[in-house]
Amino acid sequence: MRFTERASAHRLALAALMGGALLAGAGAARAAAPTPTPASADARPVYSDAAALGKLIFFDPALSGSGKMSCASCHSPEHAYGPPNGLAAQLGGADLHRQGTRAVPSLRYVLNRTPIWTHAQAASRSERLSETDNAPVGGFGWDGRFNYLHEQASFPLFNPNEMANKDPAALLAKMQRAPYAARFKDVFGQNIFADPSKAFTQAMYSIERFELEDSSFHPYTSKFDYYLDEKVQLTVRELHGKKLFDDPAGGNCASCHIDQPGVNGAHPLFTDFNFQALGVPRNPELKVNADPKYFDLGLCGPLRKDQSDKLNCGLFKSVSLRNTATRHVFFHNGRFHMLKDALRFYMQRDTNPDKWYPKDAQGKVDKFNDLPVALRVNVDTTDEPLTRKAGERPVWSERDIDDVAAFLATLTDGYELKGKSGEVSGSKSSDSSGRP
Ligand code: HEC
Ligand code: HEC
Repeated sequence: MRFTERASAHRLALAALMGGALLAGAGAARAAAPTPTPASADARPVYSDAAALGKLIFFDPALSGSGKMSCASCHSPEHAYGPPNGLAAQLGGADLHRQGTRAVPSLRYVLNRTPIWTHAQAASRSERLSETDNAPVGGFGWDGRFNYLHEQASFPLFNPNEMANKDPAALLAKMQRAPYAARFKDVFGQNIFADPSKAFTQAMYSIERFELEDSSFHPYTSKFDYYLDEKVQLTVRELHGKKLFDDPAGGNCASCHIDQPGVNGAHPLFTDFNFQALGVPRNPELKVNADPKYFDLGLCGPLRKDQSDKLNCGLFKSVSLRNTATRHVFFHNGRFHMLKDALRFYMQRDTNPDKWYPKDAQGKVDKFNDLPVALRVNVDTTDEPLTRKAGERPVWSERDIDDVAAFLATLTDGYELKGKSGEVSGSKSSDSSGRP
C-alpha cells in the first residue's frame, strides 16, 4: 500500500527524533513538562500544586456516575497505568456494566513524549504519491484525536461507558464535596467554584500536570534501561530476541517500535507514534461487534470525526511496547490476550491466514475481517514481516518467538539491580509470555 511506503520514508526521518528528543511541536505544547531524561539523572523533578491535586482527582472514584470508578480503575498504577485485567475492553457506566469499545493503553512513558497530531496534507495527487506527503503521526488515543492531555481527560469523565458523569456541573458538585476541595481553592482561588468553566478547566489542567510531572509515569527502571546505561548485560537469549526484533529483513519490529536511544541520549519508547492498519482480526468479545455493520475504523471514526480521507480508514496509532510483557490484552480491539499470540499474529497473518481469520459463507478465509471489504486495501502489506504469501514459511520459528518475548520482558519496569559490580537478580514483575 502506497500509504505505508510513504510512511516508511517518513519513519526513518522521524526515528532519530522520536527515539529521543521531543518534537518541536510537542515541546512547545508541553513546555513545562520535564525533559524525558532517564531515571538516572540526579535532578529532582518539579512537582506543582496542580500536579498534586491532579493526582487526587486521578485516583478519586467519587468523580464518576457509579461512584466506584476512577481513572486508576482502568489505568492501574500497579499495571504500568494499563488495565488491571485481561478484558478486551473495560466495564464502566453508572452501573459498571457498560462495555467500552477499545483496549486500555498503558499511560507509561508516552504522555510527555507524544507529538502533537500532524498530517501534512498533500497539495496534489502527484505530491501525495511522492514522499513529500507526511504520514499521520501523534495525538492521544488509539486514533490520535486529542492533542492535549487536558482535552483528553474530559472524555472518560463524561463517556457513558466509562466514568459517566452527566455534565461538568455534576462533576464540579462532586469535586466541591471532595476531601481536597479546600486545597483546590487554596491553589486556584477561594472563589474558583463560583466560575464553573474556570473550575473545570483547572481540574483538567491538574490532571494533565499530574500525568506530565509524576515520575511514576516514566520511571525508566527496566532491565533494558539498565542495559543501555551499561549497568547490566542482556542474556544470550534476550540479545538474540533483540536481533530478531531489529532485523529489517526479518521481524522489522524496530522500524515502528523504535529501540534506539534518541539524539540526546533519551531512552527509546518502542513506538514511533505513526499510524498503521495491521488487519488485526475482529474481536467477538466486544459487544459492539455483534452488529456486523459496526467497524472501528480508527482514524476514520467512529470516535474521531475529522478525517474524511479513505486512506486513513482502519489505521491505529503504534503503541509503546514498554511493559508489554505485563499486559493481558493486545491491540486496539483487545483481540489477543497473550503476548506470544500477538507475535505469532505478526508472523503468520499472511503465511497462515486460516489460523487467524474465520471462514465466510463460501468457506473462504475472511482475511482482515475487522474492516469493510472495500477498505481492506489499506492494510499494511509492504512493511516486513507483513509481506509474505499463504503457505510461505513464517519469518520466526516458535523458538525465535520465545526469544523475542524474552527480549520484550526486559522492558518491564521495576528490575532490581543488585550489587555494585552489576550483578543482577531477575525482574520482579510478572511476564504474560509465560516465561519464568
Ligand atoms: C473505563 C476505562 C477507562 C477509564 C475510567 C479511563 N480511561 Fe483513559 N483510556 C481508556 C481507553 C479504552 C483508552 C483508549 C481510548 C481511545 O483510543 O479511544 C484510554 C486512553 C487514555 C489516554 C490516551 C493515552 C495515549 O497514549 O494516547 C489517556 C491520557 C487517558 N486515557 C487518561 C485517562 C484519565 C486522565 C482518566 C480519568 C479522568 C481516564 N483515562 C479514565 C480507558 C479508560
Ligand atoms: C509498520 C509498523 C509496525 C511494525 C513493523 C510492527 N508494529 Fe507492532 N504495532 C504497530 C501498530 C500501529 C500497533 C497498534 C495496531 C492496532 O492496535 O491496531 C502495534 C501494536 C503492537 C503490539 C500490541 C501492543 C499493545 O499494547 O496492544 C505488539 C505486542 C506489537 N505491536 C509488537 C510488534 C512486534 C513484535 C513487531 C515485529 C514482528 C511489530 N510489532 C512490528 C505498528 C507496527
